[in-house]
Amino acid sequence: MITSDLELTKIFLDNEYIIGLPTETVYGLAGNINSEKAIKSIFELKKRPLFNPLIVHVKSKNAMSKVAQCIPDKAYQLAEVFWPGPMTLLLPKKSAISDLITAGKPTVAVRVPNHEKALKLLDMLDYPLAAPSANPFGSISPTNSKHVQQYFGKSLPLILEGGQCTKGIESTIIGFQNNQPIVYRLGTLSVDEIESYLGMKIPRSTMASESPEAPGMLSKHYSPRTPLILTDSLEETIEKSANKKIGVLTFGPEFFSQPCTIHMVLSDHEILEEASSRLYAALHQLDELDLDLIIAQKFPENGLGHAINDRLMRAST
Ligand code: TXA
Ligand code: MG
Repeated sequence: MITSDLELTKIFLDNEYIIGLPTETVYGLAGNINSEKAIKSIFELKKRPLFNPLIVHVKSKNAMSKVAQCIPDKAYQLAEVFWPGPMTLLLPKKSAISDLITAGKPTVAVRVPNHEKALKLLDMLDYPLAAPSANPFGSISPTNSKHVQQYFGKSLPLILEGGQCTKGIESTIIGFQNNQPIVYRLGTLSVDEIESYLGMKIPRSTMASESPEAPGMLSKHYSPRTPLILTDSLEETIEKSANKKIGVLTFGPEFFSQPCTIHMVLSDHEILEEASSRLYAALHQLDELDLDLIIAQKFPENGLGHAINDRLMRAST
């Protein structure tokens, strides 16, 4: 069932069921952090390996101290400026936070989503919500309630309607080493913006991309079923795949002379924010057309372009 009823959603959560939760980035699969039953259902429904920890969603920056302790000063500064918003902080966890949520790690991932419905719901609840993206492990994240329903059908009893996600790509994940910030996952909030606020360069985590320490960085992730090629030479790549049913995905209204089955433009005026908000929905659509191949054009490597290329690279075969 897809519903806009917040009271009903609360009843489901209070009774340890999990629900589809809208956020500004992507929809989450949410449950009460204090319910072992709910947390286990999240892992089961998502078919997510237990070594891959969950993000906890809290209602305000003050609530971060309910789940984390020994919080670095820079974490407070970032929370002050970028929450509610698409930034997740990895912080030392309070002992009350179950090891199931953090996959036995000493840190907990936490963020305040910037979505009216999600914030209203969190405010009505006596507990934060654990919520990974609402997609089966490895597939494209959902950016509207229909995507969530298509993935889980009747096995997910309730999805809270929250419209189309305005950002459309997951949050940026920042961790700390010796109190200094490190980027764990590129996301909707561009690292340039965080760096210019802090007035310093922030190193990228050197964790191997296959390490279970940072599963969001798995090199194959966020994938459509259809094979996808990421290229900066569109014309040539399409030519090489002649006689195939091809979907072409471009940033702006790109011209190419080779034929294709469908051409999707993410932003008529080449605005990165618009393109990223439409990216996953476009991949979902292309995936339903029984194409042989999706050819995606590489994005400019600035601002949000980094995060978009990161996702397309992981989606590619
Ligand atoms: O925008 C988002 O972040 C969305 C919305 C629903 O909030 N959530 C999301 O969750 O993308 P998920 O589970 O799909 O991605 C979270 C990533 C995972 O790759 C997980 O491994 C990593 O965060 N993560 C969570 N806790 C961690 C921890 N303690 N240490 C390292 N990585 C962690
Ligand atoms: Mg995910």
